[in-house]
Amino acid sequence: MTESSFSPTRDDHFTFGLWTVGWQGVDVFGSAIRPVLEPAEAIHRLSDLGAYGVTFHDNDVFPFDADAATKEKHLAPFRKALEETGLVVPMVTTNLFSHPVFRDGGFTNNDRDVRRFAIRKALDQIDLAAELGAKIFVAWGGREGAESGAAKDIKSALSRYKEAFDLLGSYVLEKGYDLRFAIEPKPNEPRGDILLPTVGHALAFINELEHPEMVGLNPEVGHEEMASLNYAHGLAQALWHGKLFHIDLNGQHGPRYDQDLRFGAGNARGAFWTVDIVENGGYEGPRHFDYKPPRTEDIDGVWVSAEACMRNYLILKEKVRAFRADPEVQQAFKDARVDQLAVPTISAGETVADLRAEAFDPDEAAQRGMGFEKLDQLALEHLYGVR
Ligand code: GCO
Ligand code: MN
Ligand code: MN
Repeated sequence: MTESSFSPTRDDHFTFGLWTVGWQGVDVFGSAIRPVLEPAEAIHRLSDLGAYGVTFHDNDVFPFDADAATKEKHLAPFRKALEETGLVVPMVTTNLFSHPVFRDGGFTNNDRDVRRFAIRKALDQIDLAAELGAKIFVAWGGREGAESGAAKDIKSALSRYKEAFDLLGSYVLEKGYDLRFAIEPKPNEPRGDILLPTVGHALAFINELEHPEMVGLNPEVGHEEMASLNYAHGLAQALWHGKLFHIDLNGQHGPRYDQDLRFGAGNARGAFWTVDIVENGGYEGPRHFDYKPPRTEDIDGVWVSAEACMRNYLILKEKVRAFRADPEVQQAFKDARVDQLAVPTISAGETVADLRAEAFDPDEAAQRGMGFEKLDQLALEHLYGVR
């Protein structure tokens, strides 16, 4: 394997949120440790590294209180950088969490005036999304939630959440925009408990919407692992429902705060199976990174970590390919009867009577080991680099 095979190109479809490399390191315990990174500068640097596109919240590019002229003043260099580099904007999102007005959320704020404002802010960003050619509008409801029991009537909150998605969906249809929504689940942080905390909650919620076909998911590695869930399984289930509209890739070490490590750091074994399902499960969208360059880094470290997200993805992609192509692995798959699971349990034309009439010796069948340890060890040996 040559060094250059892990160099990203546009064809790899790697995208980054402007808020990732642009994170100044403000956290609950400390202030900014890096200067402002202008969006145009970020676009040029990401382009040089081989990225395909960028994504952004409205206020990553223009201030919260920007009037039309100020908005345009900030959008002009952003648009120019996109033109100069050829980078695209496949996804946009709205910041409904930073300003103090969103202390109790946007679409599900108890305060009706705030909810109406949140919807207006999202509508403005939907217009911009369409103008920039974005196909996905991510909705991460970080502030939609509560810290205490009585404060939030969860059933009403879900009704208001639905109301917002129904209205935004109707607006997109009315305008004829080619845009779909992707809900990003997260269990907690910044709220004590966030609404739609997991992939499963979000999938069930989508079924209650007026335009369910327009709404899918944007699962994030760290968010699923914070809840001790298996990210690759979450992606697989979202794919099975036809709902994997977008992904947020990063790294996480088990259930703790949202670490947002660079992709491939943290749970490396989970990252291996993540790349496997993304590459082989039928997902067609961009490989989007939502991570935070740690506060320890200066701007050079930021670019090292951004490049590392893409390199780690490509390294794992090669390992996954080699794993699946390995004849010993193919045999181990057969021995583990993985292929049998794809065969319907009841054959066409079979009746319940046929099924009941079948002779079966459970004691004999119980003797057969599954061979999963052999299969998983082969995967680990590919991951560890000895095969
Ligand atoms: C987080 C979230 C956000 C969202 C982003 C896009 O935990 O902070 O992952 O980074 O992905 O706001 O909606
Ligand atoms: Mn996150
Ligand atoms: Mn995210």
